[in-house]
Amino acid sequence: MHNQQISKQIIEAMNFRHACKEFSSQRIPDSELQVLIEAARLAPSSYGLEHIRLLVIKDENKKQELQKLCYNQKQVGTASVVAVFVADIGAIQCDGYIDHIVRRKAGKDEAQYAAYKQMVQNRINSVSKSELTEWSLKQGFLSAQSMMDAAAFLGIDSCPMEGFEKANTEKFLGLDGVNKQISIIVPFGYRASNTQPPKLRMDTKDFVEFI
Ligand SMILES: Cc1cc2nc3c(=O)[nH]c(=O)nc-3n(C[C@H](O)[C@H](O)[C@H](O)COP(=O)(O)O)c2cc1C
Repeated sequence: MHNQQISKQIIEAMNFRHACKEFSSQRIPDSELQVLIEAARLAPSSYGLEHIRLLVIKDENKKQELQKLCYNQKQVGTASVVAVFVADIGAIQCDGYIDHIVRRKAGKDEAQYAAYKQMVQNRINSVSKSELTEWSLKQGFLSAQSMMDAAAFLGIDSCPMEGFEKANTEKFLGLDGVNKQISIIVPFGYRASNTQPPKLRMDTKDFVEFI
């Protein structure tokens, strides 16, 4: 495909994606759901630590219960699936986990492995628990955006959401709220209404500066 055509498709997909407030009863085929999950899994992460986990809620009752914890936002209960991005803050505090990730990344060279591991460990040790938590939670946003972009290319709608009762939702999902915390929630499905609100964005000239 010609790059011009791909460029057009990219912009179309970015315009198609919007914060969808209500979904239809149509369900995402499993084959396409797998693609969305891959897009989330393949997202970048700081030092390649991959400390984001994905919970995909398909169960209708659970979606209804979750909607109540999300200030009754209809996109949750009507979604085909609800993706919950969970930061595994506990994982990166375990030596065994860092060891596994770093060894994988650094390859077989012991010196290279030891140096890289020390660097990662120093970084983790140098920040407070709350900074470590904030940093971990941010990782989920990249994964979520990757999944939403992939969805838009497939004509699947989404809505990024921070509007949820964090502590209660974590409890509902069996997360301890300390070592495992919710980064962001994203329902996916197909828009209930064919009319999409206009895209409101600042002008490119105000957004970008080339230096
Ligand atoms: C981190 C984050 C949290 C958001 N939380 C909510 C939410 O709880 N409910 C909602 O309807 N939209 C939520 N939004 C969607 C934004 O309101 C929306 O992206 C913005 O108004 C721009 O509109 P658009 O995405 O339709 O282009 C959130 C967006 C982001 C990035």
